[in-house]
Amino acid sequence: MPFTNDRIVLISGTAHPELSQAISAELSVPLANAHVGRFPDGEIDIKVYDDIRGADVFVLQPTSPPVNENWVELLLLLDCLRRASAGRITAVMPYYGYARKDRKDEGRVPISAKVVANTISGSGADRIVTVDMHAAQIQGFYDIPVDHLYAKPVLMRAVRALAVDNPVVVTPDVGGIKMARSWAKALGADLAIVDKRRISGSEIAVEHVIGEVGGRNVIIVDDMISTGGSISEAAHIVRREGARQIVLAVSHAVFCGPAVERLDGCPADRILATDTIPRRGRSPRNLELVSIAPLLARAIHNIHRCESVSSLFDDTP
Ligand code: R5P
Repeated sequence: MPFTNDRIVLISGTAHPELSQAISAELSVPLANAHVGRFPDGEIDIKVYDDIRGADVFVLQPTSPPVNENWVELLLLLDCLRRASAGRITAVMPYYGYARKDRKDEGRVPISAKVVANTISGSGADRIVTVDMHAAQIQGFYDIPVDHLYAKPVLMRAVRALAVDNPVVVTPDVGGIKMARSWAKALGADLAIVDKRRISGSEIAVEHVIGEVGGRNVIIVDDMISTGGSISEAAHIVRREGARQIVLAVSHAVFCGPAVERLDGCPADRILATDTIPRRGRSPRNLELVSIAPLLARAIHNIHRCESVSSLFDDTP
């Protein structure tokens, strides 16, 4: 059933105000007048001043670090909008926190991504928009529509502008093969795989590279850089095996713990990432951010107009 209310409302949480402003500018829709603050004890204080009754409301809030803080803020925003009689509520989560905990891979652990889904649905979201969720099957944790966007066209434009000669696309682990294959196909490039073993949340070991990288220019693609272990070790091993230029292209620059030091110490010539997560503190020396705002704005526009979202992608993986 198409949603027919003509009024589009954008509400920003506090996770990433710069991205919210950029989306608002792309759409020429001002951010709604709202207060999202903290009470003296740290509890979240929300008040929406605009009348949003019946409107098509989009809440802009990546659940990036501090994940728990941004997640609860999103839940309270959703609850607020539902109680204020919004016509339809879409949670726009450019980065989806807890997506790496999508299954019970050992005894006595939670499936955190399911808890996130339960609470977001339960707090009033009618629809989700997200970008490169670590595990696409999380969509099935929801009984509402999930528009899963890909950062690849945005990053691909930046990579093409570098005119890298005869590149090899490398994935830092076997889990990234699908993404790397779609990059290789789009660039007409070869594919190589780093054989990675995770030792702990921040430590990994790489054994060898499957595929030829010696004397070649390399583009290492991944959905995220968290502590930087996977991608920096991948960069080190391809350089040891004789790679020439090394470009990293990632959707989400989480950059926690030792990430910046690891990236500064790795042989990557360029690091391309989107701005799904706000940059706070020091960035790696060769980081180039590309904006995801135009893609999110197009998706919001199409959702509001009941038009296709998948049409935004040339070759959806
Ligand atoms: C792994 O499956 C992901 O695609 C990333 O490679 C990983 O989560 C990045 O984490 P870190 O930067 O801490 O190695």
